[in-house]
Amino acid sequence: MTDMFDTTERLKKLPPYLFARIDKIKQEEIKKGRKLTALGIGDPDLPTPQFVIDRLTAAAKRPANHQYPSYWGMIEFRKAVARWYQSRFNVEINPESEVLSLIGSKEGIAHIPLAFVNPGEAVLVPDPGYPVYSAATHFVGGVPLTFALREKNGFLPDFAELEALVKKGPRARLLFLNYPNNPTSASASIEFFKEVVAFAKKHQIIVCHDNAYSEIFYDGKKQPSFLEAPGAKDVGCEFHSLSKTFNMTGWRVGFVVGHAKIIDGLAQVKTNIDSGIFNAVQEAGIEALDRYEPFCTELRAIYQKRRDVLIPALQKSGLACKLPDATFYAWARLPEGKKSEDFVLDLIRTKGIVSTPGNGFGAAGEGYVRFTLCSDIAILKQVAEQLQASL
Ligand SMILES: Cc1ncc(COP(=O)(O)O)c(C=O)c1O
Repeated sequence: MTDMFDTTERLKKLPPYLFARIDKIKQEEIKKGRKLTALGIGDPDLPTPQFVIDRLTAAAKRPANHQYPSYWGMIEFRKAVARWYQSRFNVEINPESEVLSLIGSKEGIAHIPLAFVNPGEAVLVPDPGYPVYSAATHFVGGVPLTFALREKNGFLPDFAELEALVKKGPRARLLFLNYPNNPTSASASIEFFKEVVAFAKKHQIIVCHDNAYSEIFYDGKKQPSFLEAPGAKDVGCEFHSLSKTFNMTGWRVGFVVGHAKIIDGLAQVKTNIDSGIFNAVQEAGIEALDRYEPFCTELRAIYQKRRDVLIPALQKSGLACKLPDATFYAWARLPEGKKSEDFVLDLIRTKGIVSTPGNGFGAAGEGYVRFTLCSDIAILKQVAEQLQASL
C-alpha cells in the first residue's frame, strides 16, 4: 500500500540533517548539567535598537497598518532602501521598479528559482554555502551545480570551473554568490564583481548576490555592493537583510534590488504566495535604514573586539584561521586528516563549546569548523582561556 504521508521527491533530495547528531550530543551534555557555550548559530545576541522598536510600537497602533500590506512593499520602505543604496554604495535604484520588500532575505532567495528556473535547468551554487541556494533549486525541480570555494583562491570561485560547469550541465539560469561570505567570512572586491558581470553576460545567467553581511566589517574595510560593478544591474540582483545589520533576525524583513525584470518576476511569485510584510515592521525598517549611522559603527566596534579575542585564541589552539575583514564568523581549518563533525563533537564533550561543522555547508567545507561572534566578550574570553588548554 502506498504511504499517504510519503513526502515528495523534492523534499527527499535535500541533504540529510547533519546537525541531528550534534543536537543529540548537546542534549546529552545538558542532561549531565553542563552549561554549553553557543558559538554555532549566526543569530545576533544584541537587541534591536530602541528607535526601531519605538517606531514599530507607534506604527502598530495605526489602524491603516492593520490591513493587508502591498505585495511589493510600502513605497516609503522602498524609497528608504533607494536612499540607503545611494548613500551607502552610491548606486541609484528606482524605488518603483527595482526594489521588493522581503520577509527576510531567506524568503526571496528561496522563491527566486520559482520565477526563473524551469524543471531540469541548472543553478550555480557555491560550496561551501548557505544551504537555501540548493534547497530552493531542488524545490523547483532544478539542478544545483556546485562550484568549490577554495582557500587558495581566497574562497572566491574559479571562473574556469564555472565555465566548465556551464558548458557541461543543463542550461544554467541563476548564479548564487555571497560576499562577505557565510561560512568562510571571505570578502570580494568590485574587480571580482566586474568579472562576474562579464561571465553572466557571456552566458546569459542571472546573478543573485546575497549581501546579508555587507555591514559587518572591520578595520574600516567597507564591503561593496555587487551593483557597484558597472553593468551589474543589467544581469543581476542583490539580496539584503535587516537581520544582521540591525539585530533584527526575529523581525523578518529584508529586500532585493536589481534589474526591474528580475524584481518583477519575483514579485509575481510572491503575489501568489504571501501577502507582504506587516506595514508596522516596514515602518520600523525605514527608521533603521534612515538611522543606519552611528548605530552600525557602534555595532561593528563590538564585533571587532570580539573578533580580536576569539580568532587569536583559535589560532593559538592550533587551528588555521584568518582574521576576517567582514561577517561575524570565524572559519577555522582543522589539522590535516581531522574530520569536521568529530572535532565539533569533541569540543562539545570536552569543553562545552558548540561550533558548526564545515561540511554542513557542503562537501568542500569538510576539514573546517565555523565559530560565530554572537556571544558576549566575557564569554569569548572564557572560551579563549578554555582553548589555551590543548584541544
Ligand atoms: C548568507 C545568508 N544569507 C541569507 C540569510 C538569511 O537572513 P534573513 O532571512 O534573516 O534575512 C542568512 C542567515 O543566516 C545568511 O547567512
